[in-house]
Amino acid sequence: MTEAPIPWIDLKRQYAGVKGEVEAAIQRVLDSGWFVSASENEGFEQEWAAYCGTLHAVALASGTDALNLTLKALGIGPGDEVITVAFTVSATLDAIHDLGAKPVLIDVDPVTYTLDPSQIAAKLSPHTKAILPVHVYGHPVDLDSILAAAGDIPVVLDACEAHGALYKGVQASTHGVATCYSFYPTKNLGALGDAGAVVTNDNALAERLRLLRQHGWDRRYHSVTPSLNSRMDEIQAAILRAKLPYLDDWNDRRRAIARRFDEAISGTKLTPAPNGPWADPAYYFYVVLTPQRDAFRGALKDAGIATDVSWPEPPHLQPAYEYLGYGKGSLPVTERLCDQVVTIPMFPDLTDPEIDRICAALRSF
Ligand SMILES: Cc1ncc(COP(=O)(O)O)c(C=O)c1O
Repeated sequence: MTEAPIPWIDLKRQYAGVKGEVEAAIQRVLDSGWFVSASENEGFEQEWAAYCGTLHAVALASGTDALNLTLKALGIGPGDEVITVAFTVSATLDAIHDLGAKPVLIDVDPVTYTLDPSQIAAKLSPHTKAILPVHVYGHPVDLDSILAAAGDIPVVLDACEAHGALYKGVQASTHGVATCYSFYPTKNLGALGDAGAVVTNDNALAERLRLLRQHGWDRRYHSVTPSLNSRMDEIQAAILRAKLPYLDDWNDRRRAIARRFDEAISGTKLTPAPNGPWADPAYYFYVVLTPQRDAFRGALKDAGIATDVSWPEPPHLQPAYEYLGYGKGSLPVTERLCDQVVTIPMFPDLTDPEIDRICAALRSF
């Protein structure tokens, strides 16, 4: 008998585990008759801020909006520069570009795949208005070094992949001026649609974000600054509240699976997922590196194990960001990672026999 294929992610399994709570949460909203800007948003904001260890959470429509509106709230606009990385999804750059500001790209560290703090100084200019590092795949950046290199320049964290990641034992959400989350369905804490949030300890920034997420209104129909609509739906807020109590257990399970994969990989030619000395990653993805990517993916496919590539092409080499003028070879670590990285199955609902099968396939490559 051939064994069942193992998907690289399977949201149906997670839903089956929380079906009762999620359906009750949706029903609560349906019965309330309030679908935006009501008690589920307020409840989620309080619970997410408490989880992250911050004074405020501002619920928004997506992670991209969380980044974009945070930069906008900091006053960033045309002519300004924001230092970030190209080892990310293009959303990080979109959030900057959309304000008329310029993404200034630096390479990532070859061990942790996150922003290399030693490269910040050379890119600082009188136009630098923020630094936007990305906690990639749930692995927190080297926060202390980045904050030291940034000096007075605000550091905004893209934690869209890092719900519950720990930096030196504390939530990687309490550093810098603000931390931005996506609750895209595949995330460690995922909505059943799009949603996002910003957490911060800065009262004025939180206040500004609350204006910006709804047309700049300080009261109903009274706009004090031009903005847009980035409200989180009540149904998504209620679903996130239903799932949040599970997040730590899910992350612990991801970490336990990651240890199994690390063990299986040791002694092979594969490079295991990054794990810097300061990090307790949330393992949104578990990635391996191999210069023989096609052969590796083929071997796993033959064993019935699905894989993916995140990300096959860095934004600076894509048509949208050619105008920035970074050619091939300009960010060599980022480009090598994009050539060699493979996402293997990683989600809390993987069964023990599936984990055994994945480990066996890793060992035998
Ligand atoms: C690193 C990173 N930044 C930003 C985003 C954008 O989040 P969203 O899809 O919620 O807009 C994502 C989501 O995929 C992401 O992974």
